[in-house]
Order: sequence, then structure tokens, then C-alpha cells
Amino acid sequence: MHNKQQHYSALAENFDQVWQFSPDYEVWMVAQIQTHLALKPHEHWVDFGAGTGRFSLAIHRHAQPSSTLCVEPDASMWAIAQQKTELNSLQACDQSFVQQAIHYDALLVKEVIHHLSDRTAFWQGVKRQLTANGRILLITRPQQTTLALFQQAKARFAQHQPSIDLLSTELQTAGFETDISVIDFPLRQSKSHWYSMLRAKFMSDLAPFSAIEIETGIAELETEHPNEWIDHGDRLLFVVARPKAN
Ligand SMILES: C[S@@+](CC[C@H](N)C(=O)[O-])C[C@H]1O[C@@H](n2cnc3c(N)ncnc32)[C@H](O)[C@@H]1O
Repeated sequence: MHNKQQHYSALAENFDQVWQFSPDYEVWMVAQIQTHLALKPHEHWVDFGAGTGRFSLAIHRHAQPSSTLCVEPDASMWAIAQQKTELNSLQACDQSFVQQAIHYDALLVKEVIHHLSDRTAFWQGVKRQLTANGRILLITRPQQTTLALFQQAKARFAQHQPSIDLLSTELQTAGFETDISVIDFPLRQSKSHWYSMLRAKFMSDLAPFSAIEIETGIAELETEHPNEWIDHGDRLLFVVARPKAN
């Protein structure tokens, strides 16, 4: 059985190489995050489920907040984040993180929310930790992803991805106001690049597929994309949540 933890441990060393949509994606993403989070120089923020800390460091350098804390449960991913000496890091999952007596001004939850088992308990814990002007930026994808996945992978993705209506309702129930933006990053990739990402099983939902199943999926994509390129896109949902005024 290939669970998500094994997936991230196995991928940790190559994670940043494997997740390369395009040369300008990271710069674009960092700018989007800062537009939505608006980190100030005196503020402390947390990148929850930070992985290797790749985006945490890029945001830290771009926004220059007072401190950046990477929170990551997987030991192999966390070990890489820990080497980034400009950042603070904590090895914790959602349940242990919300037990911490810490306070921060902003929390980023990027491409992580589908991994949490009790999102309501998490949001309630985060609400206790956020400062008065605190906010959350949740970045996730719609259930129907616009990425060029083969049908079985799309179905698996949809099955594990909570709907935006559900995520928004859960945040509101936990006492937050939400503001949702749908943002597209268009992608034109060489087939060799995109297929190598699929073969490397860059997404956790690809992990259970065997190498033969991945090749069958790539053959399916070949029929759908007869030209030289894979033209697709990354549709992302940016949810800014702030505690409701009492
Ligand atoms: C797709 S990666 C995203 C990493 C990073 N946020 C980024 O955007 O590059 C998902 C991350 O969530 C972490 N994760 C999985 N389950 C988690 C949990 N229960 N609490 C916190 N993080 C978790 C994984 O170990 C992995 O590093």
C-alpha cells in the first residue's frame, strides 16, 4: 500500500526538480501569494505543509517579513526545509501544530488541505493562534483540475479533493469570512517535460498508479494532444479567510 507519507518521503530529494511547471511559475506564484497575504516587515507568518520550504524561502525573500516558520510533518521533506537557515522550521502535522502555544499574523496552506483528516479542528486551532489582524491564505485546486491528467488520474484527483463549497463552508463554520478567487496559469509544455512529471508521479494522486498504468495514461494523452505541445493550465483557488468580527 502506497500511502501519502511514503509518497513524500520517497520524493523529498527530487521534489523541487519534479515540481517545475515552467520557468516563470514560481515567480508568478510568489507574487500572487504576496498580493493575497500582504505580509508586512514586522509580521510573523507560517507556511503550513511547507514541504522542502521552496516557496517559503522565495516568499520570505520577496516579502521580507520578520520571520517565516515552515511546518512540515514528513521527516525527509522537513530535513530539507531545515537546511534553509533564513527560515524557522517545525516538524508537525495539523493535529500537533494546533496544540502549539504560538501566535502569528498569517498562515499559508498551499496544496495541503486535501491531506488533513479533521479540517474543522484545524481551523478552530488556527483561529486561536492568529493575531488580531490575522489571515489565512488557502491555495488549492477545483475538483475538476485543468491539468492534463489522464482520465483515471483526474477521477482519483476529484475523489480526494474537497469541493470549494465544502472548504468555504467549513471555514465559515469555524468563524472565518472567506473571499475566493479563481486564477489560471496557462501552460504550454513540451511533451517530454510533462510526461517526465507524470512518470515521476509529481502529484500524490499519481502515486498509486503502476509504471504500466502511467504509460497507458500517457498513450491516452497522446491521442488527445496530437501536436508537439501539451497545452493546458493550472487553475488554482485562492481563498483568503479572516476571523469574523464578533
Ligand atoms: C503537494 S505538497 C505541497 C508542499 C508546499 N506547500 C508547496 O506548495 O510546495 C503537500 C505537503 O503537505 C504535507 N502534508 C501531508 N499531510 C500533512 C498534514 N497532516 N499536516 C501538514 N502537512 C501535511 C506533505 O508532507 C507535503 O510536504
